[in-house]
Amino acid sequence: MDLDALNAIAVAMVAPGKGILAADESSGTIKKRFDSIGVDSTEENRRDYREMLFRTEEAMRDHISGVILFDETIRQNAADGTPLVKLIQDAGSIPGIKVDKGAKDLAGAPGEKVTEGLDGLRERLADYHALGARFAKWRAVIDIAGEEIPSGYCISTNAHALARYAALCQEANIVPIVEPEVLMDGDHDIDRCYEVTEFTLKSLFDELYAQDVALEGTILKPNMVIAGKGCPTQASVEEVAEKTVRCFRAAVPAALPGIVFLSGGQSDEEATAHLNAMNAGYKDQMPWGLSFSYGRALQAAPLKAWGGKVENVPAAQAAFAHRARMNGLAQLGQWTSDLEKAA
Ligand code: 13P
Repeated sequence: MDLDALNAIAVAMVAPGKGILAADESSGTIKKRFDSIGVDSTEENRRDYREMLFRTEEAMRDHISGVILFDETIRQNAADGTPLVKLIQDAGSIPGIKVDKGAKDLAGAPGEKVTEGLDGLRERLADYHALGARFAKWRAVIDIAGEEIPSGYCISTNAHALARYAALCQEANIVPIVEPEVLMDGDHDIDRCYEVTEFTLKSLFDELYAQDVALEGTILKPNMVIAGKGCPTQASVEEVAEKTVRCFRAAVPAALPGIVFLSGGQSDEEATAHLNAMNAGYKDQMPWGLSFSYGRALQAAPLKAWGGKVENVPAAQAAFAHRARMNGLAQLGQWTSDLEKAA
């Protein structure tokens, strides 16, 4: 493991004004996204759609520090034969790879999940490094439902797996993004999300320490502290920012170079406003870079504008460039809703 090299990659992933494009939808998830615009999820359509994003020059060069890819995409070539990985590298962005095999039912814990994918991971990481990946992602899913879920068992098994994955990544000179996602599905309030997120993060950092993972070469991808979608009382932007920063200051060691949020079902503008409020109000209280690693909040607008039609590519690229720029500004704490409308 070359910790200086890992640290340099992690720092570049949270460079000022930049964040991550999560384009690593699994086959099932990308089909759902394509179904929503009436496009068949063929290998060629998936390639065309992602190629269009990676060729959005301004967005990629100025605001996207790295792209998380799915196994199919890291091996794919653009229509003109250029590897998609090379398009990303040529734009000055870093290719990354999702390596988990998804959240599966956790034995003995009805309603809870554990993420699989550790078997053979050492060999897969070597393969991905040779293909150009310099960081990876593993997502654990923590649901909130009533008093009993999540269980300590669910959180500890997921934290253990995240740490095993992270240690293998670092051995392969790949920066691990550790993603323990506390879902925003449900009717729980923001304080319940705070409690579960804090417990989850503390369990995760205990495991990372126990398994000798170097935080200087690690990136955290968490949920924000936010009320469940079905909660009758939705917190203000300022409350989300204040509670999220408070929770992370309590649970995340300062040695970590960066935190990149998932959007998790927030609207694209909400995800931007929340990130902006944290960076605008609390930058001097945070030892880590705070940025985005959005899937839906970066892609919803371009996906809709594209609709699978080649004549819509310029409009879709403009929509992607706009969202990337808005989130880049939010990373700097310089976004405003007026800039949003100036699209
Ligand atoms: P969302 O931003 O759509 O939640 O996706 C991010 C991601 O990569 C989840 O693993």
